[in-house]
Amino acid sequence: MINLESICYSVCELTSQTGKYIKQELSKINAQHIEVKGKNDFVTYVDKSAEKLLVDGLDNLISGAGFITEENTTSHKGTIYNWVIDPLDGTTNFIHALPCYCISIGLLRNNKPVLGVVHELNLNECFYAWENSKAFCNKTEIQVSKATQLKDSLIATGFPYYNYDYLNEYMEFFKHLMRETHGLRRIGSAAADLAYVACGRFEAFYEYGLRPWDVAGGSFIVQQAGGKISDFSGNDDYIFGKEIIACTPQIHKQFLGSLQHYFKK
Ligand code: IPD
Ligand code: CA
Ligand code: CA
Repeated sequence: MINLESICYSVCELTSQTGKYIKQELSKINAQHIEVKGKNDFVTYVDKSAEKLLVDGLDNLISGAGFITEENTTSHKGTIYNWVIDPLDGTTNFIHALPCYCISIGLLRNNKPVLGVVHELNLNECFYAWENSKAFCNKTEIQVSKATQLKDSLIATGFPYYNYDYLNEYMEFFKHLMRETHGLRRIGSAAADLAYVACGRFEAFYEYGLRPWDVAGGSFIVQQAGGKISDFSGNDDYIFGKEIIACTPQIHKQFLGSLQHYFKK
């Protein structure tokens, strides 16, 4: 029987160590280090080396577990357990030295999340939860916001940057939220957006075009902090389905209904 609590603390220790490496490299990064993977999709040697450190560290924690990773430094897949890793979520912020970027790690058991760690490296805030636990930030329990209405909410989102298929729908919903909420923020790390919903800084987060490593860790932490997660149809396909809504439970229904009014698929 594996002990997810002790594994979770080991993952937090690993993200602390790997985070030190990432921050130490910031001053060395220049334009020559930036590779373009796709439209507005960048990577540096820091993302790749950090991923290798994480894969090596996690490999010791659960025997037979495999990996789903952004930078493809390993292709090993597990039959039951898989680690889902984004070694640097917020690479665009990182290469511009803008201080919000995270290491994001989720653990799937039969494709269902059972552990999440999101470590924001500038404020050194480590958010984490494991199956049947509460959610924590640096050892203190966290919970989602108690707000019950959209009009009292601060909303996080990620702007479309490579898939513009729903840009009009996105902008119309955005305009609606501008008028009906406390406002919107685009901080440039989906993992941080989710962690900040978990601890009540944001009441809601939504984005389309995300990949499993952007959301696996953070979405689990939101749920353990009392929040509600879905895809844009209100269903559960938010890890592999490339669209996510994360909200306080009271706001989710109103938020989803409002989003679906604009995103008529
Ligand atoms: C990105 C960040 C960003 C989100 C993008 C992601 P990366 O991850 O999470 O906030 O809007 O969709 O791809 O590329 O910095 O790991
Ligand atoms: Ca990412
Ligand atoms: Ca990344």
